[in-house]
Amino acid sequence: MKRTLLIFLIIFILMQFIRVDRTNIAVEKDLEIKAPLEIMTMFKQSCYDCHSNEVKWPWYSQVAPFSWTIKNHVENGRKWLNFSIWETYTNEEKEKKLKGIYRTAYAIMPLPTYIWLHKEADLTKEQRSLIRDWTGVRKNK
Ligand code: HEC
Repeated sequence: MKRTLLIFLIIFILMQFIRVDRTNIAVEKDLEIKAPLEIMTMFKQSCYDCHSNEVKWPWYSQVAPFSWTIKNHVENGRKWLNFSIWETYTNEEKEKKLKGIYRTAYAIMPLPTYIWLHKEADLTKEQRSLIRDWTGVRKNK
């Protein structure tokens, strides 16, 4: 029993040597998505930790294996949708991403495991409708 624990401890310590790069890329405000303040506030509170260049890395993002999971979320999240570089997307891409926001804001985003650790990031039904309505207005422009 003691030995098993010791082995786990050693593995855990060794895992800490695999570091992840947690830097944020410089933000150019001109390229950021533009939306009414109440929509922006929701995006910043509930989406920016994975879909922007302004990620707030929590302390446990320095501890493996959480660091790997979080890094993975941010990398994949940014790949799909990065609010910080919105203006670099083509109209076609923007349209596709707006559709994605419409679909995911209904329930599946932010990720449930994230809400579990960030209660303040959860959105009410009304807030989710506001975001979805907003994507509709954007599309018709
Ligand atoms: C904890 C990290 C995290 C948060 C917070 C988060 N996302 Fe995501 N999101 C992801 C990841 C990771 C993916 C990539 C999808 C995959 O790998 O399955 C993704 C994918 C997406 C996609 C593309 C997927 C598709 O099916 O079109 C959209 C759109 C999206 N997120 C919107 C949002 C919105 C809107 C919010 C805020 C309300 C949000 N996300 C919050 C991690 C996150």
